[in-house]
Amino acid sequence: MDMAVILKLHIFAIAFWLGVLGVEFIIEQGRALNEAHRYAVAQQHFKIDMFFEMPAFILALVTGLLLIDPSQSSPLYWTKIGLGLIAVTGNIICLVPITLRKFAADKDSRKDVLRHSRTVDRISAVAVPAGLLALVVGAVLR
Ligand code: HEM
Repeated sequence: MDMAVILKLHIFAIAFWLGVLGVEFIIEQGRALNEAHRYAVAQQHFKIDMFFEMPAFILALVTGLLLIDPSQSSPLYWTKIGLGLIAVTGNIICLVPITLRKFAADKDSRKDVLRHSRTVDRISAVAVPAGLLALVVGAVLR
């Protein structure tokens, strides 16, 4: 496939991911409202991850890997790839607590919903800034 098309797909996946991230950020605020909202957030975030965020991240990863030019020697280039990989890996790992939190909400287990929410927050605190930095460095590389 043409490299220009792969780059367009990469940017499409990233733009899509940013939109999904915004939605997730807003729905996660509902956790603070009450128990019913907390459970609804757990179920909605799980569905958003499965149907939207995971496909976007797989596309970003596959296109990113295809774009890699091993002959590049610029440290910024490899920093960009490193940051992108941290962001994608963080999101893949995050699928575990997101799924466990959904099951905990299904079973009405308040303690576990809170515990998995904290794990989601910790992973996001690393993955989201890494993704945003990859965006900035990617834009600078242009
Ligand atoms: C959240 C994750 C990511 C973000 C925000 C991101 C963002 C970007 C941006 C903004 C560009 C520049 C596009 C352009 O030239 O117009 C880019 C290019 C690129 N990305 Fe990503 N990316 C991510 C993940 C990845 C991953 C996981 C890889 C590799 C495994 C990767 C590899 C590349 C490569 C090789 C290029 C081409 C760089 C060049 O030739 O100058 N990216 N990315």
